[in-house]
Amino acid sequence: MIIAHLSDFHISRHGSRLTQLQDAAWRANGESGWETIRRVGDWRIQTRPPKRLHIHHRLRLVDDIGVVHRVMKVGRGYRSKTESIDMLLTFLEARERTTPQALAQKFPSTRQLERLLSLDPDNINLRFCAVAHAIRRAKPDHLVVTGDVTDDAEGFELVLEGFEPFFSTGRVSIVPGNHDVYPSPPLWVAKKYRKTEAAKRMLWATFSSSLGLPPSGSHVRVLERGVLLVCLDSCHRARVLGSASGLVPMGDLHEMARQLDASGKGIRIACLHHHILNFPAKGLGIAPLQPGMRLRNAKEVYAQLKELGFRLVMNGHRHVGYRFHPAMAPLFLSSPSSTIGCRSGARPYYWQIEVDRHGLHQVKECPIP
Ligand SMILES: [Fe+2]
Ligand SMILES: [Fe+2]
Repeated sequence: MIIAHLSDFHISRHGSRLTQLQDAAWRANGESGWETIRRVGDWRIQTRPPKRLHIHHRLRLVDDIGVVHRVMKVGRGYRSKTESIDMLLTFLEARERTTPQALAQKFPSTRQLERLLSLDPDNINLRFCAVAHAIRRAKPDHLVVTGDVTDDAEGFELVLEGFEPFFSTGRVSIVPGNHDVYPSPPLWVAKKYRKTEAAKRMLWATFSSSLGLPPSGSHVRVLERGVLLVCLDSCHRARVLGSASGLVPMGDLHEMARQLDASGKGIRIACLHHHILNFPAKGLGIAPLQPGMRLRNAKEVYAQLKELGFRLVMNGHRHVGYRFHPAMAPLFLSSPSSTIGCRSGARPYYWQIEVDRHGLHQVKECPIP
């Protein structure tokens, strides 16, 4: 069977990642020096006079919670103020048409999508639609999605619509990522939109149940051709503010071993959000350049998966794509973000894996156009 491994869509209310934006919500709302010159619904166009020794003004588009979506320079060598305002208004229109709800209601055709992306090429929600089209064309037998489906637990309806042909036939396995279930980061999310962990877990449970999957926790799935897939929920956070680290409870691992024994013979593969192994050449379980990101019990999970004879382990989270096959251990596949791409600068791609009860036959990168 052919499995497509995707990850980290980060779908959001307006197609931007909260943490990628130039200004945190509290600064965008309160920073002095920016003056609102136009209001469109809850959105604002703001201006700031040139700084000392600079000859250009700046204009920016701010949404209802104070998140900055686009900044433009105005003046000599750049567009005029009127032209820039027009461009921001066109951009705003595009953003309002591309909320997850709007896109789910009327999922764009490839031609419509091309046009929308030409207006707003970095819109993550639109990028997700491109991913969905690519996967529909490729027609894999099963999808494995390793978490961070959303940026802050908004937009599950778009995933349901995009992968509808796969969901409706039970051919998707999906585990949560820290962005899906950890509490909204207070620095980035305005108070009225902040969600607690319990609220996000409820939203995840509804999403997961609508796919016919357990509302929470780890579970085993028996796929076709003797493939046994273990879905591990690694989203158990540390009690440290802002930490994105994870942990797989040992109880889940023991239960998984029991269920595998009961599932009969087959090739064992697993998926989880957090990475067990770092990029090749880094030490196991040590994450020197990623404070707050690691799987805290990586060594124990690694040992258990190795002992149980797993052949493949898939993860997301780092937005770095790599494969690493230590001796006598499973092959580890890390997926980049399918919408944003890879931190190395590589364009988005997904892993295509050909597997059956006899083993892994082919593993390759498939670019997402
Ligand atoms: Fe992510
Ligand atoms: Fe993550």
